[in-house]
Amino acid sequence: MPERFFVTGTDTGVGKTVVSALLCAAIDAIYWKPIQTGTREGTDRNTVMQLAHLPRAQTRPEAYRFAAPVSPHLAARRAGVRINLQSIRMPRIAATENLIAEGAGGAMVPMNDRQLMTDVMRHLKFPVLLVARTSLGTINHTLLSLAALRAARLNVRGVIMVGEPNSENHNAIQHYGECQVIGEIPWLKKIDRTALLAVFHKTFDCKVFLA
Ligand SMILES: Nc1ncnc2c1ncn2[C@@H]1O[C@H](COP(=O)(O)OP(=O)(O)OP(=O)(O)O)[C@@H](O)[C@H]1O
Ligand SMILES: [Mg+2]
Repeated sequence: MPERFFVTGTDTGVGKTVVSALLCAAIDAIYWKPIQTGTREGTDRNTVMQLAHLPRAQTRPEAYRFAAPVSPHLAARRAGVRINLQSIRMPRIAATENLIAEGAGGAMVPMNDRQLMTDVMRHLKFPVLLVARTSLGTINHTLLSLAALRAARLNVRGVIMVGEPNSENHNAIQHYGECQVIGEIPWLKKIDRTALLAVFHKTFDCKVFLA
């Protein structure tokens, strides 16, 4: 069975793109960011290609791209566009290919006047991975995000923690969140394909990805 995951986070800048690059390298997945804002500062598609050393053919174009580095609902409004979930179609990939889709910001980021990122996840129907910081404040942000994802009846496959390892926060998220922490990425001096693959083999629960 091909693996398909939607990578969301407890916040913007939490490490979703780094996690996506790691997973694309580890399970040879295609990368797709359906909604990209802030294109003036670059795109996550290009960052993943660079970090995981993926050819462009192993990525797919965004469904929506906006220049402004703000929430999708606002970036779309400024561009005179309304984000329509029906326009976010599963990219063309072979039935056997793995796919990693990356969200924008966190789970409850608005898309338009009525819908949130959780609606995009429901529309795509992929199991969800939640990226969280390891540092102080993460328990609250992670439990709130898990509650929102579950209220939207999404299948949360696990949490991935990014930053200096913190076993107390790791254990609290598993206990109170009733959710497995399936991987951890420590701060890396240099992020490249070799470093990401080494982290995957050292700290990730491979069973989740190579079922
Ligand atoms: N494990 C790590 N080691 C070192 N730097 C990291 C690590 N994880 C993330 N970073 C850095 O932190 C910054 C934010 O990470 P990233 O771009 O992955 O966040 P994001 O959640 O994808 O953000 P966005 O909401 O903009 O998509 C980047 O500069 C990235 O290189
Ligand atoms: Mg990103």
